[in-house]
Amino acid sequence: MKKKTLILYKSKTGFTKRYAELIAAETGGTAMDIKKAAPAVFSSFDTIIFGSRMHAGRIDGLDDARNLFQKCGLKPSALFVTGAMPNTETQTITKMWENNLTAEELAGLPHFYMQSGLCYEKMGFFDKTMMKMFAFMMKHKKGKSLDESRFAKSIASSYDISSEEYIRPLVKWLQDEQVR
Ligand SMILES: Cc1cc2nc3c(=O)[nH]c(=O)nc-3n(C[C@H](O)[C@H](O)[C@H](O)COP(=O)(O)O)c2cc1C
Repeated sequence: MKKKTLILYKSKTGFTKRYAELIAAETGGTAMDIKKAAPAVFSSFDTIIFGSRMHAGRIDGLDDARNLFQKCGLKPSALFVTGAMPNTETQTITKMWENNLTAEELAGLPHFYMQSGLCYEKMGFFDKTMMKMFAFMMKHKKGKSLDESRFAKSIASSYDISSEEYIRPLVKWLQDEQVR
């Protein structure tokens, strides 16, 4: 019998939600906002994936999700994270995983990064102020490299570099998991 997958997400401006829904559509799973998810439903799924956004170098809501899973005696099967930095920033992404995941999670929890973008229009006041300050600092940073100059320009306004193609590694992992 096909295993049932629950994709729990935390999303403020919609990128992570969109990726969760794309993963659900592609795999016949269910995408659910973690805020609205009643732990009672978890036991009807074989695979639980958690998705959230990068927030100033941290994976937003990861501690809360860990606590929730622990309280329910469950382990997430995989994790995905969306962020403004492109997928090609492999060194920064590797560092980000090392800074956010425990040694056990790094070794045993499949984790996937999906580039998304920035949406100033949907950000809350605090986030918008933080991002605007960061963008201002980057713009006025002395001796920027070419990459940093490009980055400073891109984060000054909203952009969307998300694409359905970035769910593929996770979908492939999930499909392999389902035949195991
Ligand atoms: C205050 C703030 C800090 C952010 N920090 C990072 C970061 O450290 N790295 C990154 O790649 N993206 C960062 N982002 C971009 C978000 O991770 C990105 O827009 C994400 O996809 C938003 O997800 P959501 O639309 O599901 O809320 C930041 C965004 C905000 C508003």
